[in-house]
Amino acid sequence: MSITIKDEAGIEGMRVAGRLASELLDYLTPFVKPGVTTNQIDKLAHDYMVQVQGTIPATLGYQPPGYGPYPKSLCSSVNHQVCHGIPNDKPLKKGDIVNLDVTGIKDGWHGDSSRMFLVGEVSIAAKRLCQVTYEAMWQGIMRVKPGVRLGDIGFAIQTFTEKQGFTVVREFCGHGIGVKFHEDPQVLHYGRPGTLEELKPGMTFTIEPMINIGRRDIKDGPEKDGWSIVTRDHSLSAQWEHTVLVTETGYEVLTLSAGSPPIPAFVTQSNPAQLSVNA
Ligand code: MF3
Ligand code: CO
Ligand code: CO
Repeated sequence: MSITIKDEAGIEGMRVAGRLASELLDYLTPFVKPGVTTNQIDKLAHDYMVQVQGTIPATLGYQPPGYGPYPKSLCSSVNHQVCHGIPNDKPLKKGDIVNLDVTGIKDGWHGDSSRMFLVGEVSIAAKRLCQVTYEAMWQGIMRVKPGVRLGDIGFAIQTFTEKQGFTVVREFCGHGIGVKFHEDPQVLHYGRPGTLEELKPGMTFTIEPMINIGRRDIKDGPEKDGWSIVTRDHSLSAQWEHTVLVTETGYEVLTLSAGSPPIPAFVTQSNPAQLSVNA
């Protein structure tokens, strides 16, 4: 395993790419309403990236080993879709929950972030799943600092999530990110304290837990498009994603912007000194 350490120029490049990914999600937010199709959102995202931000949509044509080229400029995962949903012509409807996951490349650096969106009024259970998943991501982020191990991060996310009665998807994880979209290390959202890689200043990686209301098991989506993943029991699934930098004393969240949802109180109260944001 070889984990890249970013120097000052790399960190600055990652800050810019990260902020742009978050600003793209800000831009898309008002469009996520009943009646809009995920293809329409994909086109809005594509045009904003290419024409306004001058970023390259990293997902478009992305083809990891064993996959066909991904055909769109973002991923849209609705309700029981876990991840990698491909935008289509089906309108969103009141009560849906949808994850929009965007990755832009700026000056060679990748910024990767996703949020959950509530389409009109949604059920109490769906809302709670989205909130708990957001907090689970932050439970992982707030522990990032030199000397901590990836197993500590996974353990924090898993124990928090399971205490709320939800389950952590095991098959997909966060990842190192930089000049490459997916670099070492793998950032598991479950684990055991004191295990796996030790964090060092200059590492950049994502934390992006996928959390299910029901069982944790997943399967390929019925579209058989080679990408879309759904919960095996068809229960709702949620995901949030930030790109983070390990600093000398803690962490910096790179994918923040004016429209980012408020950081949970348990983060700001417990580690305020570690919270360095660039919004
Ligand atoms: N953005 C996703 C992630 O968080 C990866 C999507 S790859 C795609 O890692 F090809 F499906 F777009
Ligand atoms: Co992503
Ligand atoms: Co990612």
